[in-house]
Amino acid sequence: MAWSRRIAWAVSSSPLLFLANANYVWPNSRIDELEKLGALGIGRSFGAEWITNAYHDMSTPDIFAGTGGLDASIVFEMDRLENVGDAFRETLNILKGSHNNRVSMSDLFTLATVVAVGGCSKGKVIVPLKGGRVDAAGPGLSGVPELQQHLQTHTANFAKQPFDTSEMIALVACGHTVGGVHGVDLPEIVPNPAPTDGSKNDITLTFDTTTDDFDNIVAKEFIANVSRNPLAFGQIETTRSDFRIFNADGGDMISQIATFNDFFLDTCSTMFERMVSTVPRNAQLRDIKPLLRIGVDTRIASHPQKIPTECGISSFTVEIADSQTGKTSVHDTGRAGFSPPKEILAMYFLSRQSVITVGGVSQMQLNLTVAKVDGTNYTLYTGIWQRTSAASTHSFDIVAVGPDRTVSSLFDSWDDVPRE
Ligand code: HEM
Repeated sequence: MAWSRRIAWAVSSSPLLFLANANYVWPNSRIDELEKLGALGIGRSFGAEWITNAYHDMSTPDIFAGTGGLDASIVFEMDRLENVGDAFRETLNILKGSHNNRVSMSDLFTLATVVAVGGCSKGKVIVPLKGGRVDAAGPGLSGVPELQQHLQTHTANFAKQPFDTSEMIALVACGHTVGGVHGVDLPEIVPNPAPTDGSKNDITLTFDTTTDDFDNIVAKEFIANVSRNPLAFGQIETTRSDFRIFNADGGDMISQIATFNDFFLDTCSTMFERMVSTVPRNAQLRDIKPLLRIGVDTRIASHPQKIPTECGISSFTVEIADSQTGKTSVHDTGRAGFSPPKEILAMYFLSRQSVITVGGVSQMQLNLTVAKVDGTNYTLYTGIWQRTSAASTHSFDIVAVGPDRTVSSLFDSWDDVPRE
């Protein structure tokens, strides 16, 4: 209990952390795309890779400058020796298709971690998902902890992240409950790292016997001295970083974790929330609300009205009427009403999609027209885009760059545009 209070203090006192629960008002271009992805799920699970990727990215904040933390700077740091392994490039390759100017790569890294932890724990550890992270434009500080370093180096390093000794032990146990050490990455500590059947070298020594499950078995096996964890009892003493870390407080924390699985799960939830909330000062984290789901028995009351273009809409409310109970409820997020994107309007009636033939190959051609609104004036912009197939889920961003700022708007899908 005393330990949990210490964590709460550390969260509120960290200069880097922005757990600000700023009120979310839809639409919010930094959050909405992430919310949609979170609702859909990602599909394939590379849980261990996603967790280690987020930790490596986050683990080198510059607390005084208010930079670094979870900011996707690892994208520029993959060649560093401290980032050995395929986990980082594979994570990037999986997620980059969902990256656009509405959702940052660091928010995607976070989403992947939340999905991985939730999936491997079978829903027992739900890390609150917030969005609004801002990606770094280049590499950040180096200094991700490495397995051959002394305990004092690790303790000092985690203190900068910032995690104290108990928290360091907990966070490492939370990370090392899934996955393991790959022979292809660290052949010096994986005996017989190369497969003998000529297949791709991916011999892995797992941290515990339940490598796909998010549970306290990594700690139980460590305490019982039956651990297979190569970072605890590997053949080379110098690279037994887990052994040194788990014993850093005389074994108190790792024993508690080993004894109480619920304590482990609660602690990991707190630790991971801290980890993904360590963000640069210029990022404002906001809650991700579940998408508004409308049950089969409800209908949205609509009051169709023609709005003259010179007036426009500054905000609107949504009224949901339950056809069975007759009850109605009005939704106006933030009590100010939903406000539609004002600056760029899609002109669907001036847009067309058609099929053309280029070099004997049929291609979809999209002619998009948008209006850039400036007070009561507007300017029409038209763009053409071609592709060989029409993917109905593809989003298009329309960006208008002006002397003072840039505004953008999104077509949510190819199907938004009328066919000829
Ligand atoms: C002193 C601290 C740490 C050291 C020295 C360390 C070291 C390592 C090493 C050497 C590997 C094997 C990499 C490979 O084979 O490619 C590994 C894997 C992993 N680490 Fe850590 N780690 C530390 C802390 C953490 C923390 C705090 C987390 C998460 C919160 C974490 C999550 C993971 C995960 C999930 C894997 C498995 C990756 C996979 O199977 O692909 N580690 N770690």
